[in-house]
Amino acid sequence: MESYTEKILITGALGQIGTELTNRLVEIHGAENVVASGLDRWDKNLTSAGFYERMDVSNTQLVRQVVKDYEITTVYHLASLLSGTSERQPLFAWKLNVEPLLNFCEMAKEGLLKKIFWPSSIAVFGKGIPKENVGQDVVLNPTTVYGISKMAGEKWCEYYHDKHGVDVRSIRYPGLISWKTPAGGGTTDYAVEIFYEAVEQGKYTSFISENTAMPMLYMDDAINATLKLMEAPKENLTVRTSYNLGGLSFTPKELATEIKNEMPDFEIDYQPDFRQAIADSWPASIDDSIAKKDWGLSYDFDISEMTKDMLKNLKIKLNAN
Ligand code: SER
Repeated sequence: MESYTEKILITGALGQIGTELTNRLVEIHGAENVVASGLDRWDKNLTSAGFYERMDVSNTQLVRQVVKDYEITTVYHLASLLSGTSERQPLFAWKLNVEPLLNFCEMAKEGLLKKIFWPSSIAVFGKGIPKENVGQDVVLNPTTVYGISKMAGEKWCEYYHDKHGVDVRSIRYPGLISWKTPAGGGTTDYAVEIFYEAVEQGKYTSFISENTAMPMLYMDDAINATLKLMEAPKENLTVRTSYNLGGLSFTPKELATEIKNEMPDFEIDYQPDFRQAIADSWPASIDDSIAKKDWGLSYDFDISEMTKDMLKNLKIKLNAN
């Protein structure tokens, strides 16, 4: 295997995944080898990365300059508009979710980058696909702006790999649950909001109906999976679109029951909004056996452990014990 010092650029570094991934990459590679980027102005508490670039990922020239200036080898390109927000701004979502990925793939094709990570989503599956244990190779039929952009991105990843040898790797993330940085604009975000409201209000009104199961994953497991995929030897990877990741599968009602086990007075009711239709078009559970076989995907958290950890940390964070 080729050995080199990794210099990492993270886009969307201030987002839900970006914040935690940046911390882990800094632990592994040292702050001096990690460049975070986002739209916010820099301040000293913004990120644990050694460097911060305030940039819009759609600005291709600026992004290219940053890659050259820092001699970046590896990009975690996380900047994206999630499913709910994408429905409100379809053309902007398409532009943001697809074009910067192509810019990074072009840079890798030219030899400027060695490796790219790009997140896909369970949103690629869509209507008419069996709900349970959805396999890697089912026909994709996304019916949302977000799902369409992710499906196209996956095919571009495969294209750049097959045609130009670009080492771009991807995971179809399920809904991600975490306490450090809030999610923004996703359909699975109910499973994050519910914890905040449980701690702050003791009750929650879910915008997803009680019996709608979706695949979900605790952030620690998502970060571990991402790093494992990126560290895996190239020759072990058989999927160059994006790997299925199943994680956990549960309904709002089941999650509420877990929270009630910890907080017996917690109450929930249900007022589904436009995101219910998005959830209805997504799978309830996912078969991720290929990721387990190819690069050793594994999980540490089940729904009870996740619930306990979320509540414990949020109570501290929100100072509401
Ligand atoms: N969590 C994302 C969303 O709900 C799915 O990838 O948009």
